[in-house]
Parts: sequence; structure tokens; C-alpha cells
Amino acid sequence: MSQETVVYLNDRFVDYGQALVPVLDRGYIFGDGVYEVIRDYGWGLFRMREHLERLERSAQAVEIPLPCSISEMESIIEEAVSRYARPVSQVYVQLTRGVAGRTHRFPPSGTTPTLLIMVYEPPLMPSELYENGATVITVPDIRWLRCDIKSINLLPNVLAKEKASRSGAFEAIFVRENGRVTEGSSSNVFLVDDSGRIVTAPATSLILSGITRAAVIECALEAGYELEQRFPSLDELYSSKEVFFTCSSSKVMPVTCVDGRTIGDGKPGPVTRDLMNRYDVLCRNGKPL
Ligand code: PDD
Repeated sequence: MSQETVVYLNDRFVDYGQALVPVLDRGYIFGDGVYEVIRDYGWGLFRMREHLERLERSAQAVEIPLPCSISEMESIIEEAVSRYARPVSQVYVQLTRGVAGRTHRFPPSGTTPTLLIMVYEPPLMPSELYENGATVITVPDIRWLRCDIKSINLLPNVLAKEKASRSGAFEAIFVRENGRVTEGSSSNVFLVDDSGRIVTAPATSLILSGITRAAVIECALEAGYELEQRFPSLDELYSSKEVFFTCSSSKVMPVTCVDGRTIGDGKPGPVTRDLMNRYDVLCRNGKPL
């Protein structure tokens, strides 16, 4: 993070260096909070309403009250983005249960949740990955059964990504005990099967249903592809014609190697390239092809 980073904490804009949270914040102590990551592409924030509605659902699921309405939050985020010096940015929104003595049970009612909104430079994705495809590994999905909540408790995701990184891979894909592929450590996974059908996990509590995932599904259906929402097996993933993953920061990222096995002919396939293009168009102006 640089000095340019714009920070809104609780009820005001503060300098990045002054943006401090008490050590007893339950986000720090228990990972007791929820978050969102939203992209701004210069013309506006990509599906901010959907992101904030998901934040509201996550917060409701863990009984953290939103400190303001979604419309008010939208205005604060727009103001934050306008204060940021560069044309494109990434927005991080985090809401924790607030500051209270360390006991597991909820703090007394009336405890104010801590709201953090940060605007910063989006992570740079090497263009080589989009041209040649990313390498991924699979890891056991040891997460809890409420992955639909965008919780800041990300230890299994952090460990999975680190394992991927240490083995020279870009992403780790979670596989449940029953051999079913769920999603990436910070992304949703898609494959193209033998008959050209696109397959992705259904939006159950075993995945975080991505805003990018929903947009890519819309693009795929508009383009006339057949799409099935079910959990593919690991074998199916290995033998698929194409694999890609989606998330706000990586957009549509082709995958050409899973656990050392080459996918398709080792190059990003035609369906993936088409969807990368369609999603890019959407990011350019918010509207489909
Ligand atoms: N991660 N699944 C998981 C586990 C995620 O953490 C994310 C996003 C997604 C994709 O969601 P979306 O398309 O709405 O970004 C799926 C964000 C980017 C992060 O933690 O940085």
C-alpha cells in the first residue's frame, strides 16, 4: 500500500498512516468480519450494487449490522474513488463486529461495527498468464461449510495460495473430500467438457458465488454456450478441454496446467478466449458485446 491509498475508517476519510484500529477489534482478534473487493475501471465501479448486496448478505449471515444503507455506502465508495489519484483502482470494503473485550460470544448490543473502505492500485496481472495460461495446483478443501459468506477468516485460502506459489503455480483449486471441485482459493473455476459444455460449481454454500462468475455466466449464455452448474470431479478437471477461473482482480484467467497435467493443447482454448474478450468488453464500459 502506498501513501496514495485512500482510506475511509468508520465515519471519515483519514490519511493512510493514521488509519489505525484498536487491537481489540474483533476482526483482528477473531477474524470476525466480512469483506468485498470491487474494481473500478475508470467509467465506474463494476457491479458495485451486486458487491454491496453480497456484503449485506454476508453481514446478515453472521449478524453484523451494516452501519449505513447500501446507497450511503455506494456514495462513500464513489467519493473515495474520486479522491484516488489514478484512473483505475481496486476497492476493499471490510466490516467487522467492532471493538470489545475478548470473549467469543457477541459483544454487548450497541457495539459499533468497524467499517473500512480502502482504494488502492489493482494488483498487476502478468500479461503472459492471459496469453499462455496459468498453472494451478489442487488442494484439499478444508474450509467450513459456509463458503458463501465472504468472511475475512481466510486461513485455508491463504495456505492454499502460498502452497500454489511455492510450487510455481498461480492459483490453488479446492477439492472436497468426495473428489468434487469447488472453487479456487480466491476465484471461481470453470471447465469446458468433451462436448463443449461449460461447467462450473453451483452457487451453494460450498462456494463464494462470484460477481465475476455471474457476469461470465451471462456472457456465456448470451453467446449461446451450453452451461451446466454442477460440481465436476477432479478427473473431469484433468481431462477437460479448457479450464479457466474468474475473480474481480484476475477477471477471466485461462488455465493450461493442473497438477502438472496439460489442459487441452496447452494453450488457452477458444471458449476461454471468447469469454475473456466478452468479459473485457463488459469491463470497458459495463455493457455486453
Ligand atoms: N476473492 N471465491 C473466493 C473464495 C474468492 O475469494 C473470490 C474473490 C471469488 C470470486 O469472487 P468475485 O468474482 O466476486 O471477485 C470466488 C477476492 C477477489 C479476494 O479475496 O481478493
